[in-house]
Amino acid sequence: MLLKNDYLNQFIRVSERAAYGASKFRGKNDKIAADQAAVNEMRKEINKINIKGRVVIGEGEMDEAPMLFIGENVGTGTGEEIDIAVDPLEGTNFTAKNLPNAISVLAITKKGGLLSAPDTYMEKIAVGPDLPNNLLDLDNSVEKNIKLLAEAKNIQTDKLTACVLKRSRHDKIIQSLKKLNVKINYIQDGDVTGVISVADNNSNIDIYLGIGGGPEGVLAAAALDCLGGQMQTRLVLSDDNEVNRAKKLGITDLKRKYNISDMVKGDVIFCATGVTDGDMLKGINLLNDSEFEATTFALHKSQKISKIVKNIIKK
Ligand code: FBP
Repeated sequence: MLLKNDYLNQFIRVSERAAYGASKFRGKNDKIAADQAAVNEMRKEINKINIKGRVVIGEGEMDEAPMLFIGENVGTGTGEEIDIAVDPLEGTNFTAKNLPNAISVLAITKKGGLLSAPDTYMEKIAVGPDLPNNLLDLDNSVEKNIKLLAEAKNIQTDKLTACVLKRSRHDKIIQSLKKLNVKINYIQDGDVTGVISVADNNSNIDIYLGIGGGPEGVLAAAALDCLGGQMQTRLVLSDDNEVNRAKKLGITDLKRKYNISDMVKGDVIFCATGVTDGDMLKGINLLNDSEFEATTFALHKSQKISKIVKNIIKK
């Protein structure tokens, strides 16, 4: 049940084109136009690939998103059945304000390999590779998780760094982290990159924790699956409408805790291309009137591929 090696380059091209689309709106204070441009480019490029593709994480449900909606069939319609999770522009505010860390991102598996998460919030906790299995749990207090992590790493809690999305809903988490003198690296947006940073040797992040988007959670899980990290998530469904949306996607146990293997099954490919310059990736670099350079973080689990790809592409 492996994904064909050819898909990696084909899907790198998809995230490159999406990032290029969004890059035209860097600093233009129009996050909707930036997102739309990324969606248009991404969809056009996916539709060139010989697959029977199905969007399982996309821009929303059919009635709210005209393109790349959940359930949309993409690809040429010939070839194997592939499930696709997309976030054509992760960091719409970053792009609109030309701030670091906007990316275009996607993940693919064989049919049935990706959790179709509703566009609701999701609790997330993630750590990097080389730690005891199932080390942390969302039902533990923040204190307990931090102490377990410090013990596993054989260091004091004040030597740990946590990445947290700066939102008032995280005030209690932040209080607990401060009590244990854990260093905090705040991010303003973009928790796909935040979660991945736990497995990035060039970052000093030991743990990611907090509540962010559900779709972003599954995309980050796909990357961590390739990188060997650990992650646990749980949907946050705040009203009947959100409960119904989850049920419509086939979720029956609404309080279920998902580990990576519950969100991503089998072989997986993950691609993230920089829109604006960032910690992990350089943004789209316009070289001249006809070409641009794109930088992509590309992962293919079964092939143990983890690489940064730079391509020069015709506009
Ligand atoms: P957009 O690019 O769609 O604006 O999402 C950015 C993001 O920061 C995600 O990375 C994160 O999961 C989510 O928004 C958090 O949502 P909120 O801004 O409502 O706290």
